[in-house]
Amino acid sequence: MCGIVAYIGPKEAYPILIKGLQRLEYRGYDSAGVALANGQLMVYKKKGKVQELIDFAEELPKSSTVGIGHTRWATHGVPNDVNAHPHTSGNSQLTIVHNGIIENYALLKEALEKEGHVFTSDTDTEVLIHFIEEIQEKDQLPLEEAVRIALTRVVGAYAIVVLDKRNPNKLVAARKASPLVVGIGEGEYFLASDATPMIEYTNKVIYINDNEIVSIDRYNGIQVKTVNNEVQTPTIHEIDMKIENLEKGGYDYFMLKEIYEQPKTISDCMRGRLNKEDGWIHLGGLEEYSNRIVNAQRFIIAACGTSWHAGLIGEYLFEELARIPVEVEYASELRYRNPIITDKDVIIAISQSGETADTLAALELSRERGALNYGIVNSVGSSIARMTDAGSYIHAGPEIGVASTKAFTGQVTLLTMMALSIGHKRGTISESQYRQYITELANIPAKVEEVLKTNDHIKYIAAEIQDKPNALYLGRGYNFPVALEGALKLKEISYIHAEGYPAAEMKHGPIALIDEEMPVIVIATNKSAYEKVLSNIQEVKARKGYVIAIVTKGDSEISQVADATIEIPETMEPFTPLLSVIPLQLLSYHIAIMRECNVDQPRNLAKSVTVE
Ligand code: M6R
Repeated sequence: MCGIVAYIGPKEAYPILIKGLQRLEYRGYDSAGVALANGQLMVYKKKGKVQELIDFAEELPKSSTVGIGHTRWATHGVPNDVNAHPHTSGNSQLTIVHNGIIENYALLKEALEKEGHVFTSDTDTEVLIHFIEEIQEKDQLPLEEAVRIALTRVVGAYAIVVLDKRNPNKLVAARKASPLVVGIGEGEYFLASDATPMIEYTNKVIYINDNEIVSIDRYNGIQVKTVNNEVQTPTIHEIDMKIENLEKGGYDYFMLKEIYEQPKTISDCMRGRLNKEDGWIHLGGLEEYSNRIVNAQRFIIAACGTSWHAGLIGEYLFEELARIPVEVEYASELRYRNPIITDKDVIIAISQSGETADTLAALELSRERGALNYGIVNSVGSSIARMTDAGSYIHAGPEIGVASTKAFTGQVTLLTMMALSIGHKRGTISESQYRQYITELANIPAKVEEVLKTNDHIKYIAAEIQDKPNALYLGRGYNFPVALEGALKLKEISYIHAEGYPAAEMKHGPIALIDEEMPVIVIATNKSAYEKVLSNIQEVKARKGYVIAIVTKGDSEISQVADATIEIPETMEPFTPLLSVIPLQLLSYHIAIMRECNVDQPRNLAKSVTVE
């Protein structure tokens, strides 16, 4: 949800800002803009992708060693040039980039209009910069003090960076519920929504906490304060991020690259945590709170989107292998009802970005009620990773494609290891079962590799259904969440309406939709419900639906009934999602490409949803 970047140092700021914005474009691509200051203020902004901004600013003056930049996911006001950030104060001295929402902007705007302020955009951000200007001008305050006072009266979420034309040696930034990272280079500083814009220049970062304001002075370095004016001593972290992870590496799209990375990312998730030879699983975060987790009365999994689908698989895993009752909640729903959560519960938050506002809010609620908060997160140093009591990273590396792929299999791998480890500790799986599971889990990366080899066949099937307006995905047991995930992947990148259903539920409604125009993708690998899924397929065929079945290698029965089949290697049932989701990811990818959609940046979406 919007990406912000800023630079101050000896180098030309513009190229650094542009490259940073391109890295952050996954967070929003409704518009892009920069502000530069060298005695005069240069603000360039354009509706659309960063490339539109580059073309627009090509011949314009850009020389400056300080600047701020923004890539927008629109909240207040339609995407256009005027609503694009940066926004400028009424006296044209201050300029701001903002990620988040100022909830009381209407009240502030009304008060400012009475003072004579005139607004040109529909945004809450323009109101904020006018408000800062008003406070600064009234008492002739230093910028950081004006920002601080303004923020004490602002309700909402924000990561902001403010630049004052009159003092191009300083940047002032602040955060509340939207991420903000400071990069410390050699005599230069960076600010951004995540560390990706700065990794060529430094691996030293400071994660700004909620309600903190950071002033960066070109000559005097960094000062961090709270909005209550308490000076803070920031902790410098060293990050390990590689540039190749941020590039397409020969693939046309990040999504395809990330799909193909999965044998490696699943291995990376297990590395050092699962030992096939000696038969053990060790998850640091889990061991730390082992007693409380193993004896939990209940797990509540809170997540959104794809991470919620991984959570549903987690429910099946924990209940079957560890015999702990599980509830899986949409984080956005959990926070707005009055759930019964006690100190005997463990809340597992699953999030690729670690910044999803609803998931963060669910964690805050559960913390208030005394539950242990456990995070399953990809993005290192993210808000969820830092606010949970314990947790495990999935180590999938940066996921840039808006459609989540490798993060999903990482999350499921992590949940699988957790369930096996807890089940073993609780004695709900025997030693020999535990060892069998571990041996098979270690084989999964090679099996994913095998599934990826069916890509050409999947592309052929994609061509058959690319023009259909709807699709139905069916699965049972562990593969029901996979059906949901397959449907989400298709709708978000190809704009085809798709629904996921438990296969047996079809006859309670969706069967009415089936005709020759309806492709039905059935995940039919479950040994435990094979005959039942076969019957569901027969029911679809009897109504002339076009069936694409994901089957276990060597399957003969379903293959005869379905119109098309995609084989995946045999595995133990709890691990099938890790294989069966791969063809669905590829199918969506090819359909979207055939429909000429931008699979990495689907319309209206952003990778990191930091607003409610
Ligand atoms: O970063 P998170 O895992 O918390 O994000 C949750 C959802 O926004 C995310 O999974 C979304 O549904 C993806 N676009 C799905 O591909």
